This record gives sequence, C-alpha cells and structure tokens, in this order.
Amino acid sequence: MQNPKSIKVPKATRYQNAAIDYYMGLTNSSFLHYGYWEELPAPGEELTISSLRLAQEAYSIKLMGFIPEGVTTVLDVGCGIGGNAKYLSEGLPLGDRHQEDGSAKRHFLVEGLAPDSLQETRFIENTQGKVPFYLSRFEDFPPTKSYDLILFSESSQYISADDLAQGASRLVTSGGYVLLADMMRLDGEYKEGIFSNCQVKAELKTALEKAGFQLIKSEDISQSVAPTIDLCINNFQTFGLTTGKYVADVLQIAVPPLHTLLNWAFKRWLEKPIVEGLAARKIFENHLCYEIQLWQLANK
Ligand SMILES: C[S@@+](CC[C@H](N)C(=O)[O-])C[C@H]1O[C@@H](n2cnc3c(N)ncnc32)[C@H](O)[C@@H]1O
Repeated sequence: MQNPKSIKVPKATRYQNAAIDYYMGLTNSSFLHYGYWEELPAPGEELTISSLRLAQEAYSIKLMGFIPEGVTTVLDVGCGIGGNAKYLSEGLPLGDRHQEDGSAKRHFLVEGLAPDSLQETRFIENTQGKVPFYLSRFEDFPPTKSYDLILFSESSQYISADDLAQGASRLVTSGGYVLLADMMRLDGEYKEGIFSNCQVKAELKTALEKAGFQLIKSEDISQSVAPTIDLCINNFQTFGLTTGKYVADVLQIAVPPLHTLLNWAFKRWLEKPIVEGLAARKIFENHLCYEIQLWQLANK
C-alpha cells in the first residue's frame, strides 16, 4: 500500500479532519456524509447505526440520480474514504433492494481528492487502488485536465464560495456540471457556531452564476437528513457524556488536583460547544437547509 504523503494542512482543516475521523469511528462506514433517510423514523423510534448505514447508501443512490446522461469523467472533491467514489466507479448496486434500479448500474471514470493522509490510506484500501487519489485541498489542485462533472458531496462547506465556483469552472469541460450536496445557511446572520462554516445559499448561488454556471435542478432534502443529527446527539448523550462523567468521577477520587484543573478547562473551553452540540437539531431547523444542486457551465 502506498505510504501517506504529507501536505501543509491549515489548522482549521486539521480540526475538521479530527471531527471527520470521529464520525468515521462512530459509523464504521465508507461514507462520511449524513445519509438520506428514505423513510422518516416514527416519533420515539430508536435510531441505530445500522439504519444510518442504510441511509448513507440511499444517499449515494439519490445523488447518482442527479448525474445527467453523457457524463463520463467525475472529480470527487473531498472524497473522504471512498464510499461514493467506489460506488460511482464500479456502479455496483449497494444492496439487494437497489438492484432493480437501472441507474445503479451506471459507472464513471472517477478521481478523488482530499487534504487528509488518513483518508488517503482508507480511500486506497476501499477502492482497491483502482481510483486515482490526489492528496490536496481543492483550492491548491492544479487544473491539468478537465472533467465532465465535479462532485462536492458534503465538501462545499470547507471551501469558500468563490474558490469553489472559480476552481470548478477551470476544471470542468465546456457544458460540464457541478453536483453539490450539503447543508447551507439560509441566512448570513448565523455566523458563529457549529454549522457556521456552511455556505450561505444565496452567496454560493451568486458565486456560481458569476463563474458562468446555471442551476439545472435542485432538491431540498433537509427532512431526510435530520434524523442523522438526532442520532449523533443521542449517541453523544448516551456514550460521550456518560463516559466523560465516569472519567471525571474516577479522577476526582484518584487525582483530585487534576480533576479540579480539568473541570476548570471544561468550563472554559468545552461547556459552550457541548451545549450547542446538543441543540444542533434546533439550530439546523432555524438557520439551515440541506440541498442537492446540479449546476451546468455555459459553453466556454
Ligand atoms: C464530510 S466529508 C465528506 C466525504 C465524502 N465526500 C462523502 O460524501 O462521504 C468532507 C470531505 O471534504 C474534505 N475537505 C475538507 N477541506 C477540503 C478542501 N479544502 N478541499 C477539498 N476537500 C476538503 C475532507 O477531508 C473530507 O474528505
């Protein structure tokens, strides 16, 4: 297996990579996105990691349904650990229930990029080294060739709107496409906190139009994504906070000065983000939406 190379990764990206690694550990799946809950859970129904994995597969099927006829080459920007890339390149059905779906048999020439060497290793494993991977941020990726479609599956939130739009217009073929799926802020007034790195929907639209793209199709899938937020909060409450409290109780007995110090550090740095994390569903409903958008570049 290829050794991970190192690149200069900004501190903010390193924080994001740490959060993604945590999600990877939690789900143990080859997808790093929220998934698409085809059937919304009934009120009070237990949300499980197995249902999340099904939702993640359904998301890839859903996304693939947006790829127009005639597309052959795809650059998967922020490709994570290869779930989407493997699916797009092999065109394999992801489960028995999808085998009758004709679109699931389509396959593409895919290349992936992400600025994280841990993801690189997992991507190469998951795609058996058959899909080229570039260890790079999108902003630094040189336009040495063109692609029919540039895919941003939950990676648009890590890139500025202008960098995304202008970079995509340089990399896409004439008449080619950008397919993006992500959380977006409905208002620019929501500036601080857990989801504040998401694109402002109106600003992203302006940037893409300025770069020569036109919106072909879009769908709001907020309702079908939201159960994943509930699942993460539930798991965090049940396992994360409970484990944290147990460790704190043990420290208080075994090493009281360390407990006092950590308690102070907790109140200083962690309490606010934790309270906010537990309110994530409300914040999402009040300030954000989740959309899939297909954009086409006018002929160059
Ligand atoms: C939430 S994950 C989504 C992964 C994958 N697309 C999926 O749908 O499962 C976000 C991805 O964006 C990548 N990313 C973060 N900053 C980026 C940047 N500046 N350029 C390209 N990718 C970036 C992360 O490393 C990660 O692979």
